[in-house]
Amino acid sequence: MDLRAALGPDFRLGVATSSYQIEGAVHEDGRLPSVWDTFSHAAGRTKDGGTGDVACDHYYRYEDDLDLMEWLGVDAYRFSVAWPRVLPTGRGAVNVKGLDFYDRLVDGLLSRKISPSVTLYHWDLPQALEDRGGWLNRDTASAFAEFSCLVADRLGDRVDLWLTHNEPWCQAFLGYEIGLFPPGRKDFRQALLCAHHLLLSHGLAVMALRSRVTAPVGIAPNFMPAYPATDRQEDALAARRQDGYFNRWFIEPALGLGYPKDMLELYGDLMPSGAQDDLSTIAQPIDVVGVNYYERCLIKEDATDPILRRTFVTPEGPRTSDREIFPEGIADILQRLHHEYQVPRIVVTENGAATPGSESPEDGQVNDTMRVEFFRAHLEQVARCRQAGIPVDTYFAWSLMDNFEWSEGYTLRYGICHVDFDTQKRTPKASAHFLRSLLRAERQ
Ligand code: GCO
Repeated sequence: MDLRAALGPDFRLGVATSSYQIEGAVHEDGRLPSVWDTFSHAAGRTKDGGTGDVACDHYYRYEDDLDLMEWLGVDAYRFSVAWPRVLPTGRGAVNVKGLDFYDRLVDGLLSRKISPSVTLYHWDLPQALEDRGGWLNRDTASAFAEFSCLVADRLGDRVDLWLTHNEPWCQAFLGYEIGLFPPGRKDFRQALLCAHHLLLSHGLAVMALRSRVTAPVGIAPNFMPAYPATDRQEDALAARRQDGYFNRWFIEPALGLGYPKDMLELYGDLMPSGAQDDLSTIAQPIDVVGVNYYERCLIKEDATDPILRRTFVTPEGPRTSDREIFPEGIADILQRLHHEYQVPRIVVTENGAATPGSESPEDGQVNDTMRVEFFRAHLEQVARCRQAGIPVDTYFAWSLMDNFEWSEGYTLRYGICHVDFDTQKRTPKASAHFLRSLLRAERQ
């Protein structure tokens, strides 16, 4: 396949990052701690004890990183705004130096003809809000709307795409059910309450943005297609429950379909009271759905799993350092969003592959052929979807550069550019050269 031709001349390729994973400078210029500052410093919360204190030092090196993106030739750059950098206590006093940083970043992108795409929430909740209940407190939803207004007022004239939340499933269920993310709880009822307030905050933020910006607005959930591991009916039903828990739970309320009825029956009185009253606020019309896609899951029934009665079966396929490689899964998600949900516009907001933390340049080269083939295979699936009329028009590779990988710390690398965290030297990998060649190929 001639990938560039198959994607079409107007298809945009970009790279994505997030604030806490790359910026560092966590005590600089007025920024106050986020929940990830607190969490990553707590013993045992990250695999290698890594934190985002320095990360890629992007707050100070952003000009070099902008030049790196210009060298790559990306059409667009997806980044997130650190809430605790612009509203250090979550609401109230504005940190102008924080806003000034994003102002410079956006102007630097535009001067290099790179389209800015903003994610408003990529998990770095101000600790001050967490101290007042965080996402279990309904007030945090209105605080998020205030934060959205502030950012929109400052950047709204130059940002081409707005995403309210990145992967709300991770914030809600890794944070409150599984405990791998802040605040590290294991309480399904609290996970559902957090999920509800995230969705409510999404609706309030969309309303706030609509009065301030004209650019498209959406949300970027992570989607993981769930397939039964066998042809047994009970495994198909278990896969459907997993699909409701992970995929349908967020996208359907955001698209005005309300919470999935099969899951409401399953959850019963674990659901927050009065949740139905917020559905109209949550269902603010959106222009675009972002798709973070990494892998599928294979599911079997498991009666010992108390709520969802399912277990995961490890697929046999080829793997990255942490996940199966299953390119067909991105096509399944794109087709479903188009055919089942009639989503008007789709953007792949994340897709990428992890290599070990030990990955390092040899003679100045990083020959990450697995990642090159990962991108090629997934982009071919996206191209086929486009040729079939599915309205996907942008693909953001995760990530511009190796960075802080949450509870994995620095033990996994997702970058197309290698970062030497001792020297902060960036080295484009073979995958960067692959994407660059695609970007520079003649656009017929
Ligand atoms: C996510 C986050 C990214 C991760 C990436 C690799 O999708 O989990 O948006 O911050 O780093 O996905 O796990």
